Amino acid sequence: MSAGAFDGLTAIVTGGASGIGAAVVARLRVDGARVAIFDRDVSDDLEDAYRVDVTDDATIRAGVDAVARDLGGIDIVVNNAGIGAQGTIEENDDDEWHRVFDVNVVGAVRVARAALPHLRQSQAAAIVNTCSIAATAGLPARALYGATKGAIQSLTLQMAADHLREGIRVNCVNPGTADTPWIGRLLDSAPDPAAERAALNARQPHGRLVRPEEVADAVAYLASPRAGSTTGVALAVDGGMQGLRLRPE
Ligand SMILES: NC(=O)c1ccc[n+]([C@@H]2O[C@H](COP(=O)([O-])OP(=O)(O)OC[C@H]3O[C@@H](n4cnc5c(N)ncnc54)[C@H](O)[C@@H]3O)[C@@H](O)[C@H]2O)c1
Repeated sequence: MSAGAFDGLTAIVTGGASGIGAAVVARLRVDGARVAIFDRDVSDDLEDAYRVDVTDDATIRAGVDAVARDLGGIDIVVNNAGIGAQGTIEENDDDEWHRVFDVNVVGAVRVARAALPHLRQSQAAAIVNTCSIAATAGLPARALYGATKGAIQSLTLQMAADHLREGIRVNCVNPGTADTPWIGRLLDSAPDPAAERAALNARQPHGRLVRPEEVADAVAYLASPRAGSTTGVALAVDGGMQGLRLRPE
């Protein structure tokens, strides 16, 4: 994407303090956007960062209105904040199901809902949700996490239908396993981190983890006015994990 694709546009990126979200923030800024970070965990050195937990509707509404005022409107929302969960359906209790859905699904709803009045004022309105390979492929011990991402993929379609005639496009990206602090924590907690990393690399048909910058480029495309005829789409950034069946080497 050439510099300037987002000149004059304003974005909110949730979970923008780390990993994929931080890469999206950097990409959109390089391309000319003014970007507000919404994260529950923000350090003082982050530019235009708002301490917002996506489970807290009142803080989200206040944050969205502050961004619209401070940055001059809202054109783009990237719903990226998310948390993981491991286990089969037997291994997480009701409270954990509600907690993870509250962040990964209702969190995206709350932020988009608060931003809609501002997006309707934009000539280049777009929402991009961070979904996952776990929405479309069965992975061991990811029942709860995968269910939240399946919900995000369907929500993307429902919202794309509801808001198309208001001029708002809604798409999602579906990363494979991406090399972020999240995966770093997962590897650190494994009995043999090097073996776990090798197994995750091998699960990707292209033999390595996805780079956060690669996901950010896909988000930037979908958020950009250049994707003006693209809505309701799930763009895989997974090294072929969803669609390809390679023979073993
Ligand atoms: N890393 C992967 O392999 C991978 C693969 C597919 C999809 N994803 C998705 O990408 C997104 C980002 O993941 P990442 O790997 O960059 O993780 P990360 O842990 O590096 O970053 C997530 C960010 O979200 C923030 N966050 C978490 N809960 C929040 C809340 N309640 N309110 C506000 N902010 C909150 C965290 O503080 C953090 O800054 C998630 O939605 C995740 O499900 C990740």
